[in-house]
Parts: sequence; structure tokens; C-alpha cells
Amino acid sequence: MIIEPRMRGFICTTSHPEGCAQNVINQIEYVKSKGTIEGAKKVLVIGASTGFGLSSRITSAFGSNAATIGVFFEKPPVEGKPASPGWYNSAAFENEAHKAGLYAKSINGDAFSDDIKKQTMNLIKADLGQVDLIIYSLASPVRLHPKTGILHRSVLKPIGEKFSNKTVDFHTGKVSEVSIEPCSEEDIENTIAVMGGEDWAMWIDALKEAGLLAPEVKTVAYSYIGPSVTEAVYRKGTIGRAKDHLEATAFTISDSLKSINGQAFVSVNKALVTQASSAIPVIPLYISLLYKTMKENGTHEGTIEQMVRLFSEKLYNGSKVPVDEKGLIRIDDLEMSEDVQAKVAELWKMAETDNLEKIGDLKGYRKDFYNLFGFDFEGVDYSKDSNEMLQIPSIK
Ligand code: NAI
Repeated sequence: MIIEPRMRGFICTTSHPEGCAQNVINQIEYVKSKGTIEGAKKVLVIGASTGFGLSSRITSAFGSNAATIGVFFEKPPVEGKPASPGWYNSAAFENEAHKAGLYAKSINGDAFSDDIKKQTMNLIKADLGQVDLIIYSLASPVRLHPKTGILHRSVLKPIGEKFSNKTVDFHTGKVSEVSIEPCSEEDIENTIAVMGGEDWAMWIDALKEAGLLAPEVKTVAYSYIGPSVTEAVYRKGTIGRAKDHLEATAFTISDSLKSINGQAFVSVNKALVTQASSAIPVIPLYISLLYKTMKENGTHEGTIEQMVRLFSEKLYNGSKVPVDEKGLIRIDDLEMSEDVQAKVAELWKMAETDNLEKIGDLKGYRKDFYNLFGFDFEGVDYSKDSNEMLQIPSIK
């Protein structure tokens, strides 16, 4: 079928197999151009199909020749209806990895469930024996708790008082005022249950108990801090509480891994266009101003540049992993640098519908957004028929 982007609100409901493959291939080429990273050899990536997780998997495989198992939750295709992009990304990743002689298998299902944990552990036991790196990169709006059976829904709301600020509809470029009512106590609990550290700890506990963690294993989850303009709705909002919990969980996990000299880290990453971040009010406006500033400075990075830097300069730099005073790995350093933040704050004050195309990088934002779904890639002929039924080799 010929596949075109189809929008519903902020979501694109179609995705393009060849375009998604191009995205994966571009990332692989980038990693290869950076040379070998003396990193982990057997890697489990939870949330491996898009965004930072996909780039982590690509960096491990093509930077360190690692065997990878990827866990994700994607919609497979049906005749006439394309799969979700992470499906096609993972198909392309496995195909490229196999061509390069690398082990790569995937599991599609709910990573919060006991069943998917068990399936993953069985696969590790059978094929790899143990893993020496676990990347935890889930971004989900809901979690069915495996022990209580409660369905938790995360929310993106301020805490304590109503929040009002500018935002942009990146499709139309219209800047408007958005107001978000404060959350309830229950909203905070639910958001922590979904995006906090409990499930990460459950994964690591289960893997450890089953003897599937190699000595000196590392595990890493991702967080975000960001500027003051997004603080009320992000870092000091419900999601920020979940990130506080995730960051604190790294210490608990590190304690539990002492006997095998393992360590858990949280890496604070840069704000980037992903399916998760496009849904957060205010963030798209911030990102469009940030992109403009960082591209002008020559310091802009995408997920793959960020992950290569994380792996080569932080996790596997040949000595101790550098962390800040709170124990966090910081690869948001370029975003948070004083000059970038001062410039973005100045642009923020000026931003309105009439000038945003000029002072912000809406074009770059939109391109990144379309790219997430495999659209708008050079070298892909979108007028050609695509096989929407493309399968992931290791998933029967
Ligand atoms: P994303 O939406 O691109 O990727 C999410 C991944 O989780 C996908 O592989 C998806 O299939 C998987 N997933 C979701 N629910 C699942 C479930 N129930 N079971 C199995 N897999 C599931 O998200 P993104 O942006 O890469 O986020 C990853 C992490 O990075 C999150 O913790 C996020 O907060 C963090 N982060 C994101 C930033 C951004 O600007 N996008 C900045 C800094 C940190």
C-alpha cells in the first residue's frame, strides 16, 4: 500500500516501513562513524523500539558489537493498516544487526507484566546466559500493576496551583496560552506508579534472583530536568515526582547489586522530539526555541548523538562513571549551559504566532516529528508501494 502520514490531534496514526528503516540505518551509520566503544557485550533494552531506547540499542550493537534483546510494546500491522513505528524500527534493527552477524531478538508486550519479565528472562537464560547492561527506557501513560491489578494512569499536571504559560500547536505554528489545573494527591501517586522506579527495581530484582546479571553489571534509566519555564508542569509537576522516585531508586538498586559489584545510574538527557515529549504542553514551544539556539551554536544533538556520548564518555570511558553532586549522569549539559538557557529565555518572552517560524525551529520540530513515524526522510520514495505487513524476524 502507499502510506501517507495521517494525523489525529498530536499523533500520527500511520507509519512508513522504509522510512523507519532509513531512520535506523542513519543512526547505525552515525554510530559506526564514531568508532568502537569498549562497552557491554550482552545488553537488555527495556523500551527498545523508539526514542532513547532505540538509540541505546543501536549504540550497543553497532558501537560495541553487543548481542541485544529488546523489549517494547508496539502494534503489529494488519492488512491495510500499518504497524506503529517502533515495530518497523525493530524489524529494521534486527535485519541490520543480523546482516552484521550480531545477535538480536525482541519481545513485544507489556514490560510491566510478570509474564513479559518471565519471557525475557527465559530468553536471556537460553541464549545469552547473563546480561551486563540493562537500559530502562520506558515511557508509558499507563501501568497495570502486576501485584495489585490496579491500572495506574500517569498525568502531566502541576502540583499545588494552576499553571499558565505559552504553548504552541507545532502543526499550525499557533502560539497560545495554556492553563492546567493542579493535580490531586492521587494523580501524583498514579504518575509515580507508572513512571517512577518501582518497575525498574522489579526487573533488576527478578534478573538478579534468577542469576542473570553478570558481575559488574550496569543498569541505566533516563530522566529529565529542564529549564524554569517548564518547571511547574515538568520537574515540579507530577512527572517530576515520578522522576524523583526513579532517581532515588537508582541508589536502592545499586545497594542491591553490591554483592556482584553492579551499579545503577540515572542519566539526565536532553529535551528531544519523541512520541512521549510531543504530548506534554509547553515542551514543544521550548524545544523549538532550544533547537534553534543549539543548531545555531553547533551543539544540537539527537537521541543517537546523546547515546553515543553517554556510552563512550560516561558509562564506558575506561574509568569511573562521572556523576554530579546528586549522583546523576548529565548529558543535558549542552542544553542546560548558561548561554543556551539565557538565549532560550529571551526568545521565550518574544515568542508569538507571527514570529515563531523565524525565532524558533518549528521546521526542525516538524521534521523530527514526521521522522518518528518514518516520514520526510531523504532517499525514501514515498510514492512507491510499501509492504505494511513487514515482520520482525525474531517475533513469530
Ligand atoms: P518513546 O516514547 O520514544 O519510547 C518509549 C519506549 O517504551 C518504546 O520502546 C515503547 O514501545 C516502550 N513502551 C511503552 N510502554 C511499554 C510497556 N508497557 N511495555 C513495554 N514497552 C513499553 O520515549 P522516550 O522519549 O525515548 O523516553 C524514554 C525515557 O527517556 C523516558 O523515561 C523519558 O522520560 C526519558 N527522557 C525523555 C526525554 C525527551 O525529551 N524525550 C528527555 C529526557 C529523558
